[in-house]
Amino acid sequence: MISFQWTQYPDMADPKLVRTQVFHQEQGFSLEGEFDETDKTAHHIVACEDGAPVGTGRLFSEDGLVWHIGRVAVLPQCRGQHLGARMMTEMEQKARELGGSSVELSAQVQARGFYATLGYAPRGEEYLDEHCPHIDMIKTL
Ligand SMILES: CC(C)(COP(=O)(O)OP(=O)(O)OC[C@H]1O[C@@H](n2cnc3c(N)ncnc32)[C@H](O)[C@@H]1OP(=O)(O)O)[C@@H](O)C(=O)NCCC(=O)NCCS
Repeated sequence: MISFQWTQYPDMADPKLVRTQVFHQEQGFSLEGEFDETDKTAHHIVACEDGAPVGTGRLFSEDGLVWHIGRVAVLPQCRGQHLGARMMTEMEQKARELGGSSVELSAQVQARGFYATLGYAPRGEEYLDEHCPHIDMIKTL
């Protein structure tokens, strides 16, 4: 059974487990860049299957109006079951509850179709973050 919970720094064991496996071990991003100051202020969602963490994402804002979603990851064996989409819906709902009017994110280009299915539109040109092409995407809440 899938359940969703929220956590905040310093209670980061579950987000760290998923992000290390997906972004560092699978995708090759540096561990130094993966965990940053934003983690200390962000709301982190954790998706658990039978109590074990299998997905995560983070939500943060500077002004309370524009919210940013990032570090969205689902373990490989749990992909393709709309878990990522359900985490996005939960994060958007929390952003709304906190007074947000829009969500912006930096999408890996290989994942832009995932965000497009959820109503995100691309903005601007593609750019590199470490070795990986990204594009900014935005959605009005
Ligand atoms: C991207 C990711 C979070 C998607 O999670 P997921 O649980 O597998 O995705 P879902 O099952 O919720 O997919 C929702 C929809 O998006 C589509 N989709 C998922 N990944 C996609 C991709 N990479 N490109 C295009 N469409 C995609 C699905 O087909 C599905 O479409 P449908 O609603 O028409 O059936 C997951 O593949 C992942 O963790 N990837 C590695 C980390 C990563 O790249 N994160 C994004 C960083 S910006």
